[in-house]
Amino acid sequence: MGIKKLTILFLGLLLLGGCSPRVIDEQQVDKNEKIVIKFSHVVSENTPKGLAAKRFADLVRERTGGYVEVQVFPDSMLYKDGEEFEALKSGAVQMLAPATSKLSTMFPEWQLFDLPYAFSDMTTAHNLMDGPLVKELFTDLQEQNFLGLAMWDSGFKQFTNNIRPLRKPEDFQGLHFRIMTSQVLKAQFNELGAQASPMPFNDVYEALKNGTVDAEENTISNIYTQNFDHNQKFLTLSNHGYIGYVVLTNADFWESLTPEVTKILEDTMRDVTIWERERAGNMDQNHLAELEREGKMEITHLSQEEQAQLQKALNPVYDLLSAEIGKDLVNKVKEFSKEGA
Ligand code: LMR
Repeated sequence: MGIKKLTILFLGLLLLGGCSPRVIDEQQVDKNEKIVIKFSHVVSENTPKGLAAKRFADLVRERTGGYVEVQVFPDSMLYKDGEEFEALKSGAVQMLAPATSKLSTMFPEWQLFDLPYAFSDMTTAHNLMDGPLVKELFTDLQEQNFLGLAMWDSGFKQFTNNIRPLRKPEDFQGLHFRIMTSQVLKAQFNELGAQASPMPFNDVYEALKNGTVDAEENTISNIYTQNFDHNQKFLTLSNHGYIGYVVLTNADFWESLTPEVTKILEDTMRDVTIWERERAGNMDQNHLAELEREGKMEITHLSQEEQAQLQKALNPVYDLLSAEIGKDLVNKVKEFSKEGA
């Protein structure tokens, strides 16, 4: 009986026994027999997504005794925005965790997560992420042979720019923002009289440095770990939007795995999702403290009144984009945000 069958039998017996698989001696696993999962993403390792991908890899290796090896490629080192989805479809990689915005070119409904001020807190966002609405969106992913495995947090978005402190809607006039590829994000900045240009994440640092764009929006952990504060003088803490991730795999690849292996991967994904969501918020706070300590950016805290003004100025985006996203989806998010708050 080959090592593969022996390993599967062993894992199967362990699972049937109800106990989580113990580590088996990795040396027993024949290099040719092991399953390799390439996990590509675009952010630094020291971010919620980066640490979660690494934890997933460590736990899978431990729980399968090295039979399944997850190789994580952070920081766009293997594929960057605009290349990742083709790589997943072709089987060049087996896992991604793109921001929901980036799915919107193929699946416009995912732009519901880009709607400004859609979530008052992370719990509201999690209730949507774990509810029936997103389960429907996961079903649609199968059109591209994608399988949704989980949703992870990045956090709330803030504004950075090089021109002036941003407090009131009129302060945005004439600025040029980098955005992720999303009609909602384009409409959001156009509504404020600003320009918005989609750009791969790993090009943003240089674009801010050479002035191709003079502003961007992102979570604190991305702003900090990408050193955007080296080329941005002003940070406004607005929490005006949310970045969430869809953890994806290739459906054909997933179906090729044995039930024993998919059970371990699903259980591990569930554990890591809980772990990631528990830490994302704190990571943002810790990275904000670092940005404040380094003092490279003037940090603006918006008053309640200023927040309300910005939210009011961005409200038209909901109706403007309801055709693009789907009126009933937009209404559900509106209802949801009120209830979930
Ligand atoms: C961005 O492109 O700004 C973010 O999606 C990067 C990320 O994956 O958090």
